[in-house]
Amino acid sequence: MTDLIEALRTPSAEPGTGAVSIGMAVSRVDGRDKVMGKARYAAEHPAEDLLYGVVVSSSIPVGRIKEIRVAAALATPGVVDVITHANRPRIRSFDIFYKDMTAPSGSPFRPLYDDKIAYSGQPVALVVAATFEAARYAARLVEVDYEVENHATSLVENRERSYKPSRLKAGFTPPPDPKGHADEVWEKAAVKIEGQYYSGVEHHNPLEMFASTVIRSEDGHLTIYDKTQSSQNSRWYVSHVFGLSKHKVTVRNPYVGGAFGSGLRPQYQLPLAVMAALKLERSVRVVLTRQQMFTFGHRPETVQRVKLAAQADGTLSAIIHEAVAETSRMEDYVEVVVNWSGELYACEHVRLGYHLVDLDHASPMDMRAPGAAHGMHALEVAMDELSYALNMDPLALRLKNYAEIDPSHGLPYSTKELRACYEQGAERFGWSRRPLAPGTMREGRELIGWGMATGMWDAMQMFARASAVLHADGSLVVSSAATDIGTGTYTAMSIIAADALGLPLERVRFQLGDSTLPVAPIEGGSSHVATVGSAVQGVCEKLQKTLFKLAKKLPSSPLAKARFADVEFTGGLLRVRGRPETAISLVDVMAGSGESRLEEKYMMLPNMLKQMKYQRSTHSAVFVEVRVDPEFGTVRVTRVVSAIAAGRIINAKTARSQIVGGVVWGIGQALHEETFCDHRLGRFMNHNLAEYHVSVNADIHEIDVIFVQEDDRIVSRIGAKGVGEIGLVGVSAAVCNAIYHATGRRERSTPMTPDKLMQ
Ligand code: MOS
Repeated sequence: MTDLIEALRTPSAEPGTGAVSIGMAVSRVDGRDKVMGKARYAAEHPAEDLLYGVVVSSSIPVGRIKEIRVAAALATPGVVDVITHANRPRIRSFDIFYKDMTAPSGSPFRPLYDDKIAYSGQPVALVVAATFEAARYAARLVEVDYEVENHATSLVENRERSYKPSRLKAGFTPPPDPKGHADEVWEKAAVKIEGQYYSGVEHHNPLEMFASTVIRSEDGHLTIYDKTQSSQNSRWYVSHVFGLSKHKVTVRNPYVGGAFGSGLRPQYQLPLAVMAALKLERSVRVVLTRQQMFTFGHRPETVQRVKLAAQADGTLSAIIHEAVAETSRMEDYVEVVVNWSGELYACEHVRLGYHLVDLDHASPMDMRAPGAAHGMHALEVAMDELSYALNMDPLALRLKNYAEIDPSHGLPYSTKELRACYEQGAERFGWSRRPLAPGTMREGRELIGWGMATGMWDAMQMFARASAVLHADGSLVVSSAATDIGTGTYTAMSIIAADALGLPLERVRFQLGDSTLPVAPIEGGSSHVATVGSAVQGVCEKLQKTLFKLAKKLPSSPLAKARFADVEFTGGLLRVRGRPETAISLVDVMAGSGESRLEEKYMMLPNMLKQMKYQRSTHSAVFVEVRVDPEFGTVRVTRVVSAIAAGRIINAKTARSQIVGGVVWGIGQALHEETFCDHRLGRFMNHNLAEYHVSVNADIHEIDVIFVQEDDRIVSRIGAKGVGEIGLVGVSAAVCNAIYHATGRRERSTPMTPDKLMQ
């Protein structure tokens, strides 16, 4: 019902129905191709005489390969080769060549480089055959003898080895220096709480598995369809690892079946497929299995301690937040876990700490709202605990400590409509009817609880280029090597361009997903709309100016005396604002000036000097209702209201989908998702979707999304901040807080599975 009301409230447009403007609810321009099966993903691109590679994975976590016996595999009909570290083509040695654009500090994993084993499930051979079935069968016949060494895979057991991470990762900001005297204030405080919070490992499970199809042409050029969040990052990586000129490799990713951070870095199937293509001079496809995807690239296991102190009126007097997270022996994978605790609430005494423990796993990987997903969980559960210690409403406690300027850096916010999120979210949810005491709402055998939490994420902008070609018939093609991981980039960029030039949506085509297009950053950090969207806006504004100049020069032009600032681009016209009769169509301008096409290029550099003067973030307030069956320990999340402040919304429909998706994953983080490592074997055991639980339809009930009004011209010229990750942040904490409100039991580890909640 609320969906219906929302739909009626928002002006909408379907593809092919004409005019669009920023903020409308627009269906995906690529939706039809996806539904019809015409949108091809990395493993679906055909090639002549294609070979199929299947990966053989290590069965030990640490050690050395003594011998690999491949005779039986090679004797299998259809098998062409078994590639191992011993017979692979030449690859480069130095770390620097393996560093992709988002690599953390350390020594990146080099597949099939030598005989060393660094984690369970590491690739040790690639069986290549004429059919997938032959390769898969033969992969089971490869025998590997290992020299086994000791391993350590438990974060909890190895905590005493923790160390401060190095600072060398783009986008990583170490915790700031302590402010005031948090420990002394906490010791002396009248009202205080402390808690230890544990978050288990989560593995990436996008629908599309990691896949690369390498298509080799006669002249040796490689066209690679890769499952990645950046075609240019994969292109860069392949060129460097194999020492190939950048003109010899093109990477494409026109469609990506979900990624969520799993495609920020090139995954090992890419170099393996290239290796086989170079060695055998053939086209090769390698797709990983779902089981193999459970061997690397996880959200790191993290243990956190939070201490909060307050005065009797709820004013926060001290915040202490420390996290210990896992990384691999190879790299210092880092994320921002604790910094949020210094940025969200006004408080004079703050001490934050972040440490790593290196374990014998593959490097952890960014996963939707990396760092904030569990960092904000601990802070927001701790705030809830403090509210009970104060006998204060949890929302009132947050409002009491609302930060008007960024407490960590003393900077004003570029925009911050968090207060409106609290107000509108609480109103829609009915928060004012909430009883303060836990365990007081019941229906039948179920206990009902209402909880809330705050969310926060960065509003980032990177560097990007775009080009645009306007044709004489008024059709427009805009290009940038951006990515659409399913988030709606095609549609958002088409809307921005159509809005800028006043063209109907069906006249605009946005091209992305090709490493030869103008430079775009990796699609990550919720920054793509603010970044690529601003480049698209920029290139369209250049076209506007060119069109205006051409229009003015036309004989007896209606715009002869007009100024550019007074002209609007709407309905296919250049028109003087407020004088609808003073107009000329864009097609007539092209025809009159004899232009068959107009081309513009634009380079979007963020205005760093201006941006640095502001704290730039998105915010949210999440309200949750749970129903808990105390005897079975089961939890149903029956109602969620998520109020989001994320700048100007470009496409109300796909933006809402992003938030709904984030909430669904937040429920998974809270209740379902966890990978268990058997530390005797050093291996993740529940490596399939039967034993690793994600939220399914039966787990999801009402999810209501509110976008509060915000327009941030400091983050981006189009006013947008980005919505990819903010929808997830705070959800698991709100669920935890609602469970406490229902039952009076505080569960400080995620996921909160029935075994932990049973009475
Ligand atoms: Mo996102 S974890 O930056 O893809």
